Amino acid sequence: MDSVEQASVQQATKLIDKFGRHVDYIRLSVTDRCDFRCVYCMTEDMTFLPRSQILSLEELYRVARVFTELGVRKIRLTGGEPLVRTDVMSLIEKLGALPGLEELLLTTNGAQLEKYAVPLKAAGVNRINISIDSLDAERFKKISRVGKLEKVLAGVDAANAAGFDNIRLNSVIMRGYNEDEVVSLAEYAIQRDIDIAFIEEMPLGEASDHNREDTTCSNAWVREIIEQKYRLVDSAEKTAGPSRYVKVAGKKSRIGFISPVTHNFCEDCNRVRVTVEGRLLLCLGNEHSVDLRAILRDEKSDDVVLKQALIDSMQIKPERHYFYDKDHAQPVRLMNMTGG
Ligand code: GTP
Ligand code: 5AD
Ligand code: SF4
Repeated sequence: MDSVEQASVQQATKLIDKFGRHVDYIRLSVTDRCDFRCVYCMTEDMTFLPRSQILSLEELYRVARVFTELGVRKIRLTGGEPLVRTDVMSLIEKLGALPGLEELLLTTNGAQLEKYAVPLKAAGVNRINISIDSLDAERFKKISRVGKLEKVLAGVDAANAAGFDNIRLNSVIMRGYNEDEVVSLAEYAIQRDIDIAFIEEMPLGEASDHNREDTTCSNAWVREIIEQKYRLVDSAEKTAGPSRYVKVAGKKSRIGFISPVTHNFCEDCNRVRVTVEGRLLLCLGNEHSVDLRAILRDEKSDDVVLKQALIDSMQIKPERHYFYDKDHAQPVRLMNMTGG
């Protein structure tokens, strides 16, 4: 690429919403399927989308390319579980070569990382977030309904050995499931010099029979528990998403807190989501969306039309989410349909 091309690729994002927020991060869901059935994410007997309704790998690539041409700098692949999509590596390799993209990221359940960690790194994935909610095999199975802890632990080690810029574990802490594992999960990350984020469970659809208002643990509580063992030092460090980090004194690991229930971080939201059906979702906690699949499959719509639709969509990006607010409708979409 010559310097003129480079300059045009490095333009600031053209995606600016009516609250002045700059969108430069997309979360692209590549499948609604998963080999786990986590209790906060899916029902036990999920029906998944038929093939005709989901975007092809080519369509997903086109969406990603057009977003980067508008100034998007970070793409996170989500699902369901991204690594269960057939031939997903061919898409990831192409995304890794996209001009203008600064970070290619992946959120995974880790079960297949033994196989994929090295090829993902080679394809240009910069950082990986791995979900892990328990270090006890029985418990892990209760939360994921089907997952095998040993596969995920082996996946974490494989990712660690593959040399990514950063690895972060994601743990959703729920009362009655794993609230007594906060310290051991933090310790597990610290021993491996990797980061860990604690996530407050969000009320996204009816995934199981527990009442989320009863099980959600606030991150203020999680932090207090960790502080009984470690000294935590506030930090201004940020990653692409909503996590706020603290450093663990004397250790390399950072501990992140994602607190969508007790703190609203929407003010500096920089992201939108694309579901695997091609629905551009302007907010995780709201229904505002644009049907990109119709545009992608309309022969008369070229990239100019697609780009204009993306720019126009910024006008309907909601100001914020309203979890547990009785005056606002609560999301009915399950997480696997939303894309993490
Ligand atoms: P980093 O690039 O490492 O900061 O990633 P991230 O935290 O954006 O991504 P990840 O897929 O690991 O998401 C962790 C948790 O944050 C998940 O539960 C996401 O649903 C949640 N999350 C990410 N973005 C948003 C958002 O815009 N709104 C809400 N409410 N939750 C979000
Ligand atoms: N609330 C909070 N986090 C959730 N995740 C999935 N469903 C929920 C929910 N209802 C987390 C997963 C994964 C990330 C993409 O989102 O644990 O780490
Ligand atoms: Fe699969 Fe992740 Fe949902 Fe669990 S949270 S069922 S691993 S997509």
